[in-house]
Amino acid sequence: MLTCYDATFAEAMDAAGVDMLLVGDSLGMVVQGNETTVAVTIEDAAYHTRAVARGASRAFVVGDLPFGSYHNSEVAMNSARALMAAGAQMVKLEGAGPYVEVVKYLASRSVPVCGHLGLTPQSVHQLGGFKVQAREEFAANQLKKDAQLLQEAGAQLLVLEAIPSDLATEVSQSLEIPVIGIGAGPGCDGQVLVMHDMLGLGPRQPKFVRNFMEGQTDIVSAFRQYVEDVRSGEFPAAEHQY
Ligand code: KIV
Repeated sequence: MLTCYDATFAEAMDAAGVDMLLVGDSLGMVVQGNETTVAVTIEDAAYHTRAVARGASRAFVVGDLPFGSYHNSEVAMNSARALMAAGAQMVKLEGAGPYVEVVKYLASRSVPVCGHLGLTPQSVHQLGGFKVQAREEFAANQLKKDAQLLQEAGAQLLVLEAIPSDLATEVSQSLEIPVIGIGAGPGCDGQVLVMHDMLGLGPRQPKFVRNFMEGQTDIVSAFRQYVEDVRSGEFPAAEHQY
């Protein structure tokens, strides 16, 4: 999986063999230039989802529900409908707690849902920054419980972001649904990176990112290298893990 925000890159990723395109609310940062993802609206998300869906022919398209667009089940259903009408085949939302009920509501109404635990960027102001999560035993146990609850509620996919590799491996092995990691080590079922990061763009490169443009002369080859290295297990390597 890679994040994707427009039709041209969707076509390129699709051709390079990327299985899933996430129209992430990271668009608020890498496309809109904001410091966080919290200002992204459902209209922004639908606009980019529509563009990505037009460019994708084979890859599975996941639309990210923005901050404040799923705080109760009815609002979430309307937001999910907007992203699915724009071409998303699944929607992603961050967190557990009150959102477990939301996942249950959506999943029982024909909305495929992806959960997202660990570093949940929409909560950046509560978390005090973009920091590694669940290093302490209590938080790790809570994350394990939350992952089970999301699966039981009907989530069909789970993203784990910026958590220790051992924990991510344990969660991946204990769940039946596929787990996609970002900064969560090689023990997950798949990997995701923000496109701009893996192309070496932007001033800040988190520890878990590799610049796949290195050694390549074009972007499609960088996407192909990513697919190959994730499939072979070469990425993420030891230096990309917590
Ligand atoms: O918005 C996004 O790009 C994401 C990924 C970091 C998983 O949620």
